Amino acid sequence: MEIRNLFPELDEINSEDLRNKVEKSLEKAITLGEWTEDDFKYIPATLLIPELISDDQVAQISLVDHIRAVTQMCISTYDTYVKLGLGDKLNRDELIAGALLHDVGKFTEYERDSSGKIIQTEEGNRIRHPAMGLEIVSEFNLPIVVRQAIVFHSKEGDKINRLPEVDIIHRVDFLCFSPIKKIFEKN
Ligand SMILES: [Fe+2]
Repeated sequence: MEIRNLFPELDEINSEDLRNKVEKSLEKAITLGEWTEDDFKYIPATLLIPELISDDQVAQISLVDHIRAVTQMCISTYDTYVKLGLGDKLNRDELIAGALLHDVGKFTEYERDSSGKIIQTEEGNRIRHPAMGLEIVSEFNLPIVVRQAIVFHSKEGDKINRLPEVDIIHRVDFLCFSPIKKIFEKN
């Protein structure tokens, strides 16, 4: 499986070392989840919007679509911050790496049941993807921004002082959830 084809935004990371670590992290998570390339269209961005799943079990917005959308919107946000004169206050590489990996734990939080439906694993239900993601990447010695993005992008981080890059990822992630939920629920 070509991770770079699945996530073309990897090329936006300038540091070769960080880019390779992000690629290896995604590859490891997908391997641990025992997913094949054909499975990705069935894995939804979230299980909290059941309407995302069509009758043929295909997800209208897949997890891969979601990760790519969050990453693209983080890059757009960075570009806007540059126009505000704040570009040097943010680490662009780490922002992109954090966006690409924020939901890396979902590849092990979810599984396909015998009917082909995507469900939460037993462990996923108990630990959730933020902690599972942090476990997956622990061997890669990723920067603190990236690790904080993985473990605290979601509600787990609501009482944590998120770093600016992680705050962007957290808010963009919500922007890729809440309005979409309203659209699918038809308000
Ligand atoms: Fe997300």
